[in-house]
Amino acid sequence: MTVPLFTSKTHRLGVDISSTAVKVLMLEKHRNGYRPTAFAIEPISAGAVQDKTITDPDVVAGALSRALSRSRAKTKHVVMAVPTGASVSRVLNIQNPGNEFELEEQVRMESDQYIPFPIDEVSLDFEPLHSRLDSQAKKKKAGEEITLSVVMAATRSTNVEARIAVAEAAGLTVDVMDVESFAIQNAFTEIIAPGLTAEDRAQPVALLDIGANTTTINVFNGDNIIYSKEHPFGGKLLTNDISLYYGLSPDEAEEKKRNDTLPDDYHRKVLQPFIDNMAMQVERFIQYFYAETNAGTIGLILLGGGTANTAGAIERINNETGIRTRSANPFVTIGQGSKISAELLANHGSSMLIACGLALRSFDQ
Ligand SMILES: Nc1ncnc2c1ncn2[C@@H]1O[C@H](COP(=O)(O)OP(=O)(O)OP(=O)(O)O)[C@@H](O)[C@H]1O
Ligand SMILES: [Mg+2]
Repeated sequence: MTVPLFTSKTHRLGVDISSTAVKVLMLEKHRNGYRPTAFAIEPISAGAVQDKTITDPDVVAGALSRALSRSRAKTKHVVMAVPTGASVSRVLNIQNPGNEFELEEQVRMESDQYIPFPIDEVSLDFEPLHSRLDSQAKKKKAGEEITLSVVMAATRSTNVEARIAVAEAAGLTVDVMDVESFAIQNAFTEIIAPGLTAEDRAQPVALLDIGANTTTINVFNGDNIIYSKEHPFGGKLLTNDISLYYGLSPDEAEEKKRNDTLPDDYHRKVLQPFIDNMAMQVERFIQYFYAETNAGTIGLILLGGGTANTAGAIERINNETGIRTRSANPFVTIGQGSKISAELLANHGSSMLIACGLALRSFDQ
């Protein structure tokens, strides 16, 4: 079974299966950009998704069904993504591309060296980077060399099949299987970047998605992504600290953390040390960027992911790094005029970066 990583046409629901929740989002396009029309986050029990692998498909499919009915989305067509760490993507330069079938073979052969698992266990797709193959081919004159740049993405077929199985169990059809890193990049380019000022964009911008288990840092120069890395850090550490310090179950700790209903000494004893650590980690992730690239100084940090909601985190990171730091919640601007509750968008919007990028695949050319 193959599902294209690239191609799209109609209205689709973006579905992000993270380590803690199933998140669904639909966008509509209007004069000044995009607006959310369906939005839901449905928690999944601990262990149903482990290390980005769906280990309990029934639990995940149940959460997806509930998210779907709560979001009131009418469509049965969805866009999902495979995790960045479980996929390989590369820009390939194909010399003298042949017809459609020959090109596919050329891409497969060229990709082989980058794919660390047997090629017959791989789902692979590709798309020309700039212009369509047709227009390239037409330009070809006798004896002339042509190079076609394509972006290729590949993952183990089992990763694709596990997601399709969950969607089908919830009565849905997967139209597009994206890659999480492409989705975040799309969300930045289409939704976040248009809200930035010229000053914001004068230097590289770091977009951080700090989830429950993983932090993803993407650095953009203009619309181009120049760096991307995942680190094992997230809000689950704070939940664990709370659970240990107050003798609560992980679920109770999570609930009290989100609702800010912990005892008076929580801020000083547990929260502050976590925020200090979080700021140090962000500083470290940025130092990795400087050490691994030579692409200029970051002028702005945009903080996304649910853990970006931790009270006091933005200010603390600003102080630690000396870099202007703001929330990356895309719905602060695009949520206006939407039927979705403003409170829901304000409190949970920053967790929806991947879902945003996936929902945007409805509007591919
Ligand atoms: N108001 C809040 N204050 C503090 N932490 C919060 C708040 N809301 C959510 N979180 C934390 O954010 C995390 C969930 O964020 P998010 O939905 O981005 O993670 P995820 O995508 O499920 O995780 P991952 O990307 O690691 O798989 C949890 O650790 C949760 O406790
Ligand atoms: Mg996440």
